[in-house]
Amino acid sequence: MTYNEIRKLFLDYFKSKGHTIVPSASLIPNDPTLLFTVAGMVPWKGILQGTEPAFAPRVADVQKCIRAGGKHNDLEDVGFDGRHHTFFEMLGNWSFGDYFKEGAIEMSWELLTKVFGLDPERIVVTTHISDDEATAIWKKITGKDAIRLDKDNWWSAGETGPCGPCTEMHYDFGPDMPGGLPGTPNEDGGRYVEIWNDVFMQYDRDANGVLSPLPKQNVDTGAGLERFASIMQNKHDNYDTDLFVNLKQAVADLTGVKETPENITSFKVITDHLRSVGFAIADGVIPSNADRGYVIRRILRRAMRHGQMLGHKGALLSALYPALVKEMGDAYPELKTQEAHVVEIIKNEENAFADMLQNGMKLLENEIPNINNNILPGNIAFKLFDTYGFPVDLTQMILRDKNISVDVAGFEKCMAEQKERSRADTRGTKLLWESQTDLPDTIDIEKYETKTTKPAKVLAILRGEEFVKSANENDEVEIALDHTPFYGTQGGQVGDSGVFKQNDEIVMNISETNRVGHIVIHKGILTKTISVGDEIMPEINQNVRQQTARAHTATHLLQAALRQVLNDDVEQRGSKVAPDSVRFDFSFGRSLTAEEKQAVEDLINKWIKEDLSVAHEEMDIESAKKRGAMALFGEKYGDTVRVITAGDVSCELCGGTHIYHTGEIIKARINKEKSISSGIRRITMSVGNLAE
Ligand code: ALA
Repeated sequence: MTYNEIRKLFLDYFKSKGHTIVPSASLIPNDPTLLFTVAGMVPWKGILQGTEPAFAPRVADVQKCIRAGGKHNDLEDVGFDGRHHTFFEMLGNWSFGDYFKEGAIEMSWELLTKVFGLDPERIVVTTHISDDEATAIWKKITGKDAIRLDKDNWWSAGETGPCGPCTEMHYDFGPDMPGGLPGTPNEDGGRYVEIWNDVFMQYDRDANGVLSPLPKQNVDTGAGLERFASIMQNKHDNYDTDLFVNLKQAVADLTGVKETPENITSFKVITDHLRSVGFAIADGVIPSNADRGYVIRRILRRAMRHGQMLGHKGALLSALYPALVKEMGDAYPELKTQEAHVVEIIKNEENAFADMLQNGMKLLENEIPNINNNILPGNIAFKLFDTYGFPVDLTQMILRDKNISVDVAGFEKCMAEQKERSRADTRGTKLLWESQTDLPDTIDIEKYETKTTKPAKVLAILRGEEFVKSANENDEVEIALDHTPFYGTQGGQVGDSGVFKQNDEIVMNISETNRVGHIVIHKGILTKTISVGDEIMPEINQNVRQQTARAHTATHLLQAALRQVLNDDVEQRGSKVAPDSVRFDFSFGRSLTAEEKQAVEDLINKWIKEDLSVAHEEMDIESAKKRGAMALFGEKYGDTVRVITAGDVSCELCGGTHIYHTGEIIKARINKEKSISSGIRRITMSVGNLAE
């Protein structure tokens, strides 16, 4: 029986029992206590708590879930057995104040044994230690004695909210499998597998852990579809069921590697992570450095590491996504409608991390022989995180096979120290650079071309607080060149990241580019020895540049829109332009109304739709003034200035980098508007994929 057949049989059964069948809710819950929808009941929390009215007394569905962070987290276990997933589907039925224990148990039993035809002898049931009622019902309906358990038979979604005792049904794969009955300590061999959990939601738990009875007695049930399928297909490993067999085949086709007992973990991790990353992005999650965006970024990076272990280079999850659509797109049409968007987002992520993964692995492999007591020092884990984007759990995962753990406390200490350092500012190195009075200004006109065709010469290397002639692999340094296409942070726009190469090989990863006077400083970590006088090819990260450029042009549109919607007195007071995000401060005496905010956003999106061309021109300051170019309050300009003109809506003096058509912005979304001081407002806005 396939996944599609199981979903249908389950829903048809509950429909015949008077349940309203609803589609899965989003993986992004409407609930600040949870990162993801972790169970079928999450969308119904308000109803269960009694704060929202029930739209029907009986409901059933198949809900997409992710358990990869917070109280319910299976991420670390994926791949090492046949049972764990970060993404899974949960079959569930609910009674909102309608049937209770007896009705729920009767239907579960009938469905398992009559509809799905499971052997009643193979089903073992457990109840909560306190729940005499459920125990008696099982006895009456099936003649079975339930095993009475304590904490295993109590269920809640989060630390607070609806909860209650539960009863679980387990399937016995037979005496050939190792493992003891449910609840037997240290006997989890996998012989007995939980199929279904019926929770009797009777209580609401508050922040102090105090239970109070809910206004109505509800039933919340959940059965993991992947386990259900493993039982129906008599496969002991979920990853051997039809859906996963097909996804694993897609991995084999893409990588050209056959599944073997040695590489099976990688096959499992990649197929699991394909589902969580693909479904989450289709539901609107964008990989980022915070919250659920960071969970998805970490999962994606873990998958890439497993792709690398299979010897695969290039696109992984973005290339596998069509296989996911083929398997699950009929049950979840959003996978299809969002396909182009999801693939693009994953591709961007993969491009950004591919080189970092290679170089980070090199660093880690070099460190392994120096490890004492099987513990990787925290500062190395931190370097991997800071320079190569290795989330600490990725480093842990990589070292797990080698029985090496990570000094997480040491890692966190380094994190805290770095925060402190960045607070202390780049002031320290700024003074050092300023002392280099005979260093020539960096020629950085190529920043507008985004590329250089000729090698650049290393003019100065700062390591720690010392200028050195030469620095080595893994050294953290700041470097000045004779010319560069890198944009150094300036005028509110954050600098570029990228690499230096020699003979097409990366010799340095640049994480940050700053300016001291007219000198552009490239900051990062060397992957090879570099000396003053060497020639390197500087290459910026074009993805990041494009994201920053579109944010910058969008900032100009924002200013123009504010002036149209509010009035011409609006003036820029500061800004921060980062990849796909904008912070814009301006003079205005009151907060914007919801209508005004919407009008500003709509106007920007209208200009984006019109795909206005954006001209980048150099001219003398007088001509620019005649043109009516807006200049920044209090800013000094040279004789020759750059003028950025978007259609006939915006004309500004600006030294930043911009796109050439407003359509490249894709979309703009105002996130927040607030006061930062008297008469000054701040707007934060997302653009591009982030806004979408
Ligand atoms: N909400 C219950 C669970 O997830 C049914 O197990």
